[in-house]
Amino acid sequence: MKRIAFIGGGNMAFALVGGLRAATKAGDTPDGQLDIVVADPIPNQLERFEGVSTTQVNAVAVDAADAVVLAVKPQVIREVVEALPLTTRQLVISIAAGVPIEAISRSTSAKQPIVRCMPNTPALLRAGISGLTANGFVEPGMRALAERILSAAGQVVWFDDEDSLHAVTALSGSGPAYAFYLLEGMIEAGVELGIDAATAERLATATVLGAARMAEAESVGPRVLRERVTSPGGTTERALSILDAARVRAKFRRAIEAACQRSRELAEEFGK
Ligand SMILES: NC(=O)c1ccc[n+]([C@@H]2O[C@H](COP(=O)([O-])OP(=O)(O)OC[C@H]3O[C@@H](n4cnc5c(N)ncnc54)[C@H](OP(=O)(O)O)[C@@H]3O)[C@@H](O)[C@H]2O)c1
Repeated sequence: MKRIAFIGGGNMAFALVGGLRAATKAGDTPDGQLDIVVADPIPNQLERFEGVSTTQVNAVAVDAADAVVLAVKPQVIREVVEALPLTTRQLVISIAAGVPIEAISRSTSAKQPIVRCMPNTPALLRAGISGLTANGFVEPGMRALAERILSAAGQVVWFDDEDSLHAVTALSGSGPAYAFYLLEGMIEAGVELGIDAATAERLATATVLGAARMAEAESVGPRVLRERVTSPGGTTERALSILDAARVRAKFRRAIEAACQRSRELAEEFGK
């Protein structure tokens, strides 16, 4: 049995622990049971964690843990990690957005195995996708454990170089906001065309969800799927001609590049 300590009992820890417990209940635990402990200084935060151990003392949670998940806000990560009694046999998994591995390892042994993850907000519904990267001290068994834990929040993708996490941050980390932005525009348009706001929201949301599910299910890719719904001379073609004329796709690329650049700037500021 592996022991997993969550430091910070906030939203992300709640989602991950819920996902791990659901997998256990479903019997989907090929690598054995997990012994989960959650640490948070606020008792209220801990009350909602059912069926797992809880403590207000981080050091108690870390004791004998195989993996220690840092699920606190980036601003407090340094002081939290400095106070943890870690050994180099323990894997540290950080889900703190924008905090480089190097910034964490300054507060641990230089040989601390560390996995850094960039999840996104649909993780809260276990429908997220996380980019993962590991330092050179993470052994294959630790990698598998990290993947198992983050899979409780959705899909996982590994990256060999940590630098790629800037692009992941820009694409899937900030990405839910781009989808919400699209939804806002579609809903506004529906309302302008005379549909009531609630119905417009329902139509737009179900459409984006359905389209995403089609893109996931079909191997042909989004371009072919788009072409299939675009009959010559039809309504979709007329709409897309407006978007093309406004160079919306190029703007998307520019926006995501800007987000990537901002991620680099923030990492630099964090490192100082
Ligand atoms: N939410 C997301 O979808 C998402 C996406 C990507 C990345 N992340 C990352 O995930 C991390 C957690 O996010 P979250 O949304 O779960 O935040 P959150 O809800 O604020 O959870 C953090 C928890 O840690 C507690 N805490 C603060 N100081 C602590 C300490 N010294 N020891 C132990 N626990 C302490 C906080 O208590 P208080 O409330 O009392 O401060 C809070 O309960 C962040 O670093 C964030 O960047 C989150």
